[in-house]
Amino acid sequence: MTQAAVAAADYQRIEVRPLTPSIGAEIHSVDLTQPLDEQTFQEIHAAFLAHQVIFFRDQQIDIEQHKAFGRMFGELHIHPAAPSPEGHPEILVIHADEKSKFVAGNTWHSDVSCDAEPPLGSILHMHTLPSSGGDTMFASMYAAYEALSETMRKFLSGLTAVHGSEHVYRGRYKDFGVEDAGKVYPKNEHPVVRTHPESGRKGLYVNSGFTTRINGLEKSESRALLDFLFAHVAQPEFHCRFKWAENSIAFWDNRCVQHYALWDYYPQVRHGLRVTVKGSKPV
Ligand code: SIN
Repeated sequence: MTQAAVAAADYQRIEVRPLTPSIGAEIHSVDLTQPLDEQTFQEIHAAFLAHQVIFFRDQQIDIEQHKAFGRMFGELHIHPAAPSPEGHPEILVIHADEKSKFVAGNTWHSDVSCDAEPPLGSILHMHTLPSSGGDTMFASMYAAYEALSETMRKFLSGLTAVHGSEHVYRGRYKDFGVEDAGKVYPKNEHPVVRTHPESGRKGLYVNSGFTTRINGLEKSESRALLDFLFAHVAQPEFHCRFKWAENSIAFWDNRCVQHYALWDYYPQVRHGLRVTVKGSKPV
């Protein structure tokens, strides 16, 4: 059975509990410490495509199980800037404590959209949480695109935008021993409206973390349009909000989702590990 053949109503192995009509679902009756049979994998894949971000609870996976789950969806991505634990270049550490000067993802973004082939998806396994707070917000770029007028959709459809990362990563990991003098950080151009390679649906593909300029417009026009689109994406109607517990997992589709990690718990500790799956060139 292909994932396309698994209609939402046909889940046999997993239980899918949507969080909102447009984005997010919790997946139950799955144990990710065990190898997944083909049908369970196809159903998880179908739920991922349908709901754009899926969540699992009480999954005590180790690093190898985490990477193995990611590899079921594609090759793993290595972050262009962040340091990784010894022997695990595919792991991104998400950590905040009383010494933190920033936290990863504390603005609306799609992961590493500055890459020529930005990641398909990211799988975050949470290990330690503050006593309250530290939620993550997710926004559906399908819903944001579909809420625009026909005229605006037509205007955006031929445009491309620059996604840079110099302003994000330069010097960011100095305190973690990363010396980046002379390093060139990725910068690429992508369509403002992206067609999802698996679902065929269209979504907005500009984000306030990485997108710096819309091509073919005057600087002030580009700034005004980006500000409008960033404010549009931030409307709560397009969102779901995930309240983590230890051993929760979130798996989001960077091709059609933006996310925002709230940092409302300083100076408490929040710690998790992320595996990121390689993607393709946006079209
Ligand atoms: C990220 O991967 O951008 C961070 C997400 C989070 O910490 O919730």
